[in-house]
Amino acid sequence: MGGVTSATLLPACGKGVPEPASGIKGILPSMDDAVLLADGLGYKLLISWGDTINALGEKFGFNNDYLDFVQLDNNPDDYLLWVNHEQSIHGYFLTPEYPSSKTREEVDTECRDVGGSIVRIKKNDGEWQFQKNDTFNRRIDALTEIPIVSTRPIRGKTVAQGTLANCAGGKTPWNTILTCEENYHYFIGEVDLKNNKRSYFFNGRSRWDRYYDMPPEHYGWVVEIDLFTGAAKKHTSMGRFSHESATVVPAEDGRCVVYTADDKTNEHLYKFIADKPGSLEHGTLYVADTENGKWLPLDVNADPRLSDTFSDQLDMLIRTREAANIVGASPLDRPEDIERDPNSGAVFVTLTKNEKANRPHGSILKIFEKNNDPLALNFEPSTFLSGGKETGFACPDNLAFDKKGNLWFTSDISGDQINHKPYTSFKNNGLFFVPMSGEDAGRVIQLGSAPVHAEFTGLCFSDDGRSLFLSVQHPGEYSKNIDHLESHWPDGGEALPKPSVIVIEGEFLNNHCV
Ligand code: FEO
Ligand code: CA
Ligand code: CA
Ligand code: CA
Repeated sequence: MGGVTSATLLPACGKGVPEPASGIKGILPSMDDAVLLADGLGYKLLISWGDTINALGEKFGFNNDYLDFVQLDNNPDDYLLWVNHEQSIHGYFLTPEYPSSKTREEVDTECRDVGGSIVRIKKNDGEWQFQKNDTFNRRIDALTEIPIVSTRPIRGKTVAQGTLANCAGGKTPWNTILTCEENYHYFIGEVDLKNNKRSYFFNGRSRWDRYYDMPPEHYGWVVEIDLFTGAAKKHTSMGRFSHESATVVPAEDGRCVVYTADDKTNEHLYKFIADKPGSLEHGTLYVADTENGKWLPLDVNADPRLSDTFSDQLDMLIRTREAANIVGASPLDRPEDIERDPNSGAVFVTLTKNEKANRPHGSILKIFEKNNDPLALNFEPSTFLSGGKETGFACPDNLAFDKKGNLWFTSDISGDQINHKPYTSFKNNGLFFVPMSGEDAGRVIQLGSAPVHAEFTGLCFSDDGRSLFLSVQHPGEYSKNIDHLESHWPDGGEALPKPSVIVIEGEFLNNHCV
């Protein structure tokens, strides 16, 4: 395939670890400012931050994360790709010199960096290509008006200004995309609703609310997007918190179950069960008690502990974290992505880390719903994998299953902690492969290494399983300033690093994953 292929042919695992029986050769951790891949895999750039996408001059946003797509005209070589954009470039290496008082124009530029992009991609002559200026290409960002689906206005409004902090997400059976608003408070602050006090982060540098009416209660939701029309709506039904992911599992009766996680230390794992098929507007939100294997309902009309605290169900959903604590939900080690094993039905949840509890390496939690029914209110929890030197990974974040049912995941060691204790041995963030059957079942094999400070996110396989779309997020994130950049990926030289989407292909996928 075209583009750069940086295969590093190294022994599969650390010293003294036997080779995988399957003969799969992994790579060793690396500090290189490059995308390195194992033998049999190569990559090509699909689209980068700042690329113009349409005739309006709209540009591809910053820090691309979650990826998913829908086919156009039932053509497996023609997709509308959705890409989340989690942050604006300001807040990264431009930050130290960046003024805390910004003009409206500067704020608008930042607002356009986040949200999501819809871009058409096609496979031509065997190679995926971004279709510049396609009429479907559009941006949804922090300036786009988005209706809120709720029983009453929130802060006097039924429409929010934009979506931001878009981390992971999900796809519905009716081919809409769910994009999750994670760390919204970094951009517009947070409000303590008990004391009606607003607080700001990063010395108040973001403060988009200086120019716009952006109450924190308008963010932290799951947003549903129709890629064909760009229509968007914010669902309040799945609660408000630092929404990482929203993984949809249809139940036998056609209703959808959505698993979603709150990526903050000691926050919680949730499950939403829709009231009827084809919609996520109404239903019941549950939170996990992983000690006792129970989903606990968050329903003010059925629980006096909740009705004593909250004025109505919407008030409770706005303050979901408080409700979860009231009913006795289990604190977790920063739950992030969630995927359901297509073969066993088990639900896997990454727990990135908990430094406060001396679990800096994280783990992957496995949940088996009673009778393998996503509607069940009881489950069996267990630890599937623990991070650490023995397993060769730390801080798991995004997950995906390939067509054969092998588990793929990526790591998110914070850029300022890479190559420092207790993460020294892991070096840059990686892409990992776990066979789920055969002699190597459960074994972790590193297949990729990310550029300096970057993490891989948004793992997404094409329908035929032969292409892996992957985000390379925040290369050079912890560079001191623009004159001391620590990553120049992907352009090299002295170039500004650019978050980009890559496509990985090769014999490895063809031989082991389809
Ligand atoms: Fe946006 Fe929790 O990663
Ligand atoms: Ca994440
Ligand atoms: Ca995923
Ligand atoms: Ca993360």
